[in-house]
Amino acid sequence: MRAAVLETPGEVPVVRDHPDPVVTPGHTSVRVTAAPLVPLDLLCASGTSYFGRPATPYVPGVQGVGTVEDSATLPAGTRVFFSTTAGMAPGDGGLAERCVVPDVDVVPVAAGVADPALAALGLSAVAAWMTLTWRGRLQEGEHVLVLGAGGAVGQAAVGAARVLGAGRVVAVCRSEESQERARRLGADVVVPLAGDVDHLTARIQDAAGGKVDVVVDPVFGLAATAASRVLGPGGRLVNLGGASGDVAEFSSAVLRGRSAEILGYTNNALSPGQRREALTTVAEHAAQGLISVAHEDIPLADAAAAWRRQAAGSAGVRLVLTP
Ligand SMILES: NC(=O)c1ccc[n+]([C@@H]2O[C@H](COP(=O)([O-])OP(=O)(O)OC[C@H]3O[C@@H](n4cnc5c(N)ncnc54)[C@H](OP(=O)(O)O)[C@@H]3O)[C@@H](O)[C@H]2O)c1
Repeated sequence: MRAAVLETPGEVPVVRDHPDPVVTPGHTSVRVTAAPLVPLDLLCASGTSYFGRPATPYVPGVQGVGTVEDSATLPAGTRVFFSTTAGMAPGDGGLAERCVVPDVDVVPVAAGVADPALAALGLSAVAAWMTLTWRGRLQEGEHVLVLGAGGAVGQAAVGAARVLGAGRVVAVCRSEESQERARRLGADVVVPLAGDVDHLTARIQDAAGGKVDVVVDPVFGLAATAASRVLGPGGRLVNLGGASGDVAEFSSAVLRGRSAEILGYTNNALSPGQRREALTTVAEHAAQGLISVAHEDIPLADAAAAWRRQAAGSAGVRLVLTP
């Protein structure tokens, strides 16, 4: 089969022939139709992540969409979403024509969302959904602040917050294009990520209408510091990424004075059942046009160029590889 193969950690994968994966008991073989390039793919492939240096060569791709070819649990032809541990543990991922995945990591998806759109949502949308519902414990009417609203997690979080009945949704992101998209996705107010922390805090405070109950934070750094300062009583800031840096400053007086919480989130802590339920729910809302992630479809043959764009941070949308 054709696959994007990483030969050396830290380098760019090469599209070439690669042995077809072998189906073993407890596994499902999927013909891949769409697989997104996500930050986790590049982090794992860097060889410097907390997962350690991956054994090479391997096919990156921690998730994808496709149809079942061979499975003991699902009929052939079933449309599925799948996740893999490529780069985190030995084994190949989804940037290929075929992928063999443990049965528990395969989710049938009947909702009317096209394969690339579903791939773009994928685990980014699962993270957004579970950050709001599970870690953030969002209640109807509460105010939500989404940092990094231009990214896939942030876009999904804006839509999800609306679906979940947030009373107010404030989005923070950098480019004009992202800000405009956040408004279209349902943000009540959009705040540009600009200026120093005091300036940003004041802008968010203004936009939030007095309080923020739940912060979705894939960014950390200065934006998280500003967000923590506007948390209301019992507010929850859920960090799920460090796109702008690994350190942020929080005030003890603010946290204890408001009984506020700073929480961490990782998809890796979800049970297969939680992941399945979140993905299914998100897909149903996506089918109604309520949650989406902007994406660009790229032939698998051009995986190296797509990888470079993602690494440079210049993609602007989720890049989805289509074998
Ligand atoms: N914990 C989990 O389970 C989990 C799951 C999914 C993702 N993540 C993490 O969440 C983060 C975002 O993921 P994604 O899929 O949304 O990524 P993405 O689609 O590639 O978007 C990149 C995001 O990073 C932000 N960003 C990049 N450089 C920045 C900088 N210098 N300053 C401020 N913001 C910056 C962008 O902000 P703008 O919005 O301003 O463009 C955008 O929101 C990544 O670190 C990813 O690893 C974690």
